[in-house]
Amino acid sequence: MPYSIAIDGPAGAGKSTIAKAVARELGYVYIDTGAMYRAVGLYCLNNGINTNDESSVVASIKDIDISISYDEEGAQQVFLNGENVSSKIRTQEVGAAASTVSQYQPVRDLLVALQQKLASKTSVVMDGRDIGSKVLPNADTKIYLTASVEERARRRAKELMEKGETCDIREVEKEIEERDYRDMHRENSPLIKVPDAVLIDSSDLTIDETIDSILDIVIKR
Ligand code: DC
Repeated sequence: MPYSIAIDGPAGAGKSTIAKAVARELGYVYIDTGAMYRAVGLYCLNNGINTNDESSVVASIKDIDISISYDEEGAQQVFLNGENVSSKIRTQEVGAAASTVSQYQPVRDLLVALQQKLASKTSVVMDGRDIGSKVLPNADTKIYLTASVEERARRRAKELMEKGETCDIREVEKEIEERDYRDMHRENSPLIKVPDAVLIDSSDLTIDETIDSILDIVIKR
């Protein structure tokens, strides 16, 4: 039976960095589910579909094909209708579009089916918002990874600055708060900490300390 680790938490908590490293340590496949919602968000932006208009987004699902593969270094690549969009989806604009389209149940149905199929074949570390609650409710280990809004904004601003982009830290904080609110208060599969998930607040932890605390939980299971 494949083994599964679910890591949920708000935007900017470091889920992907941590999940990737945990997967590497354990020899599991890392699945970034946010990238799939981002690909749907990108499709809407590219095709002039108003992400706030649920019926237009839902009507476009039939034209969207999302698939996943792994490059030679094992990094997940996301394909939107055959095009590798892995870099294009990494903008704040696409992140916000992803958060909006992820509210719609038919979008979730499409992507959850793909995620469950991937996890049925091999041991995975999967990160997202609804992994422990909906995608893999029977996951062997569930983690809820969070950090304070201030710390998440500081990390995001540092990332943007490293990419040569300027930003206003207050603006980044505001965007994070808005995204948290939308992700936690939507009707369909909101971000929640399920009772059987272990809470890790990484505000005062280094990346290595966070990885080690998850590996400890997996080993002690
Ligand atoms: O983790 P991320 O920032 O790449 O995710 C982008 C958006 O996609 C996020 O704001 C909410 C949505 N999402 C979701 O609803 N369910 C998931 N399992 C993963 C992401």
